[in-house]
Amino acid sequence: MIAVIGSGYVGLTTGACLASLGHPVVCGDVDLDKVERLQRGEVPILEDGLPELLHAGLAAGTLEFVHGAVAAAERAEYVFLCLPTPDGGDGRADLRIVHAVVAEIAPHLRPGAVLVTKSTVPVGTAAEITAAVDRPDVAVVSNPEFLQEGSAVRNFLHPDRIVVGSDDRAAAAAVAALYAPLGAPAVVTSAASAELIKYAFNAFLATKLSFVNAVAALAEAVGADVAEVTHGMGFDERIGPRFLQAGPGWGGSCFPKDTRALATIADDHGVPFPVLAATVTANELAKDHVADKVRRAAGGSLAGAPVALWGLTFKAGTDDLRDSPALAVAQRLAAEGAVLTAYDPAIGADLPATADRPAIRVAADPYRAAEGAAVLVVLTEWPEFRTVDLARVAAVLDGRTVVDARGVVDEDVAAAAGLAVVPLGRRGRFDPDRSPEPAGGAVA
Ligand code: UDX
Repeated sequence: MIAVIGSGYVGLTTGACLASLGHPVVCGDVDLDKVERLQRGEVPILEDGLPELLHAGLAAGTLEFVHGAVAAAERAEYVFLCLPTPDGGDGRADLRIVHAVVAEIAPHLRPGAVLVTKSTVPVGTAAEITAAVDRPDVAVVSNPEFLQEGSAVRNFLHPDRIVVGSDDRAAAAAVAALYAPLGAPAVVTSAASAELIKYAFNAFLATKLSFVNAVAALAEAVGADVAEVTHGMGFDERIGPRFLQAGPGWGGSCFPKDTRALATIADDHGVPFPVLAATVTANELAKDHVADKVRRAAGGSLAGAPVALWGLTFKAGTDDLRDSPALAVAQRLAAEGAVLTAYDPAIGADLPATADRPAIRVAADPYRAAEGAAVLVVLTEWPEFRTVDLARVAAVLDGRTVVDARGVVDEDVAAAAGLAVVPLGRRGRFDPDRSPEPAGGAVA
């Protein structure tokens, strides 16, 4: 029996996928309401393929949900910790939840149980947990996840590799064996290496994106096209074609927190790692860059300007708003006086203001969001934005300019509808440096 503690997107995906591989799985969560909904087959998050796996597991009896960590952990040979490790505010992951759960379940673990950390935790946490559990018969294994929100099920079932790290290599190999049906290579390491792999991996990808976003700004300045540049770069397998899409900066629940945490780990150990600070700074500049485009599109000032936003989530395919670049851009626009109305396929209600986002009115469809706006800004790459009727948008939009930070609006179709697209990473058709203003003066 495998226990999965924590039914967030990582825990739920892990539990449902392990059950689909034929393992009996019990998931424990502290939130009774969530547990009851899951028992009824209701999936509380937007995750492609997850409802189907959950229903199959429930029907086959291989997947069950119980209230509380102990109720799940006491029955299992393997206990996966899939708990939140939020940024503690000082750049360090806050491990209070992990430590509290470990203390709670330790006395109840079966003899010879293996405790597996899936949560992203600072290097040294497996050693700390081993000391806290204080049971020679219980091994601790770090098994970081590489799941992208929105495609977590696919990522789980088709992994590039499985990473298992422990100072008890036999326990690490036993955890790797749970994934054997997937046929992926297993990377068996020390606990510290496995923990560092996760941070280095996420921070490296964030750095790749910060680099691309800086190239995008440079491409605009020199008259190049970032998509052509990255296409040319990506053919080299040392770089690879994926994760090269320029945008309004990277966000989500992992990259920002893990990049900051790795910088802090380096600091704590007195190891200079200036690339990380530059990666974070470049990400702020990427958001500024989009806000600058919107201001220019609005004629130089956003004071009182109605601005329509398409997309609020941190990327398409998820309903997650955590550390969303779209909201960071919104915050910049609102700070300059813009009045925001948004549409996002995954967000059904107005957003109240918080510390890092302004209040945003949410419309029921992309056209209503665009109504009366001076500028329309595309901030998330939802596929439906590619097929919106731009003539209908042009009919309701007050201004003539669409700032497309995700490269989803067809410039020719927009032009036919009388709209000028301000793209990211290249000059637009109507860029003043490239061609004369179109009739109607649609220039950003
Ligand atoms: C990430 C990692 O990819 C995953 O392996 C890890 O375990 C958890 O963190 P996720 O947070 O779901 O997954 O987001 P991801 O799909 O990686 O995107 C992160 C951010 O980068 C998003 O804001 C996205 O829009 C942006 N991005 C991604 C780009 O701007 N361009 C790209 O080419 C890819």
